[in-house]
Amino acid sequence: MSKIYRLAVVPGDGIGLEIVPEALKVLQAVCAPEGVELDCATFPWGAGHYKAHGQFMPDDGLEQLEPFDAIFFGAVGLPDVDDTLPAKDYTFKVRVGFQQYVNYRPARSFPGVPGPLAGSPKMDFVIIRENTEGEFVQVGAIHNGQAPEGLALETSIFTRKGITRVARYAFDLARKRRKKLTNVTKSNTLIHSLVFWDRVIAEISQEFPDVQYETMYVDNTSANFVLHPERFDVVLTTNMMGDILSDLGGALMGSLGLGGSGNINPAREFPSMFEPIHGSAPDIAGKNIANPIGAIWSAALMLEHLGEKTIAQRVMAAVDKALLDGMLPADLGGDATTTKLTEAIVDRLN
Ligand code: NAI
Ligand code: MG
Repeated sequence: MSKIYRLAVVPGDGIGLEIVPEALKVLQAVCAPEGVELDCATFPWGAGHYKAHGQFMPDDGLEQLEPFDAIFFGAVGLPDVDDTLPAKDYTFKVRVGFQQYVNYRPARSFPGVPGPLAGSPKMDFVIIRENTEGEFVQVGAIHNGQAPEGLALETSIFTRKGITRVARYAFDLARKRRKKLTNVTKSNTLIHSLVFWDRVIAEISQEFPDVQYETMYVDNTSANFVLHPERFDVVLTTNMMGDILSDLGGALMGSLGLGGSGNINPAREFPSMFEPIHGSAPDIAGKNIANPIGAIWSAALMLEHLGEKTIAQRVMAAVDKALLDGMLPADLGGDATTTKLTEAIVDRLN
């Protein structure tokens, strides 16, 4: 019996246009023999679309995406387009519009990739970043910006509902893993928003007595990511701190190009969106040297979300084998091109 998943594919800009089609090759190759069919529709949205049509996506973009089982996304942004637009007009619109309140960002050691932590114990943690509110709500203003007395205000919004739902997801995840949750905060100085954040999370922790709960300030967390990465299991944090820490997680794996992620609507009222943690990397775009693994890992997370856990595991096992066999892309110090590395991964699927 065959299963069909309908995927909305948004490659975006820059290296998104290179890594997304490569990741889809891996997906098709791993799914077809299992009788799983992927019905993909591509949407050419992003900064390139903005240059041609004045919009990152059409007014009814969310309506167009809604019927799909999942969204597979590359990255948006181009150097000659106002860089306040990609998040506002595409990424946040989808994350908020589809209530993808969990940003699931795993970080782990890869075999054959020494990375900056060579010699450290193995790292294997998941950052759960609140994805719809916090510091990134874009509520604020610049007043008299040109004047000496000019000032800018930017407000964070944290709601009990928003904190509660992401915290429950994170504790539940910890329960399925090594049963440890670190709440990364900065409530010693953000004495309203993050004191409230900590209080609500501490309340939720009572529902999960089997999960070891700790809080850690974000500055100390960044140091501990480097010094003791093995001590983390599930890391729960806010929108902006999670954004920053996940690039650190990527770098600790060996490259930003390795990191995969999911923007998840756990209630499944709307499609979830899967994307590498990096951006459109215009500095290396068009050269066939981008690391496709972040996109491939995102595709594996998408399969897992769709219920195909075994197939997803095969994808990551093939990634591990290719890396162990020395197929390293430029960002990991090797010379495997985007297409060669993808081929090597496809070859190792079975
Ligand atoms: P970036 O993540 O695109 O690049 C940072 C550095 O990492 C660059 O040197 C790049 O070459 C390298 N890099 C990233 N991905 C790589 C890969 N797969 N393989 C090898 N090297 C890789 O971040 P940056 O430069 O800050 O932003 C570039 C553009 O991307 C901007 O317009 C920004 O707004 C946008 N952006 C979009 C995101 C999204 O669509 N979700 C997320 C982050 C940035
Ligand atoms: Mg980021």
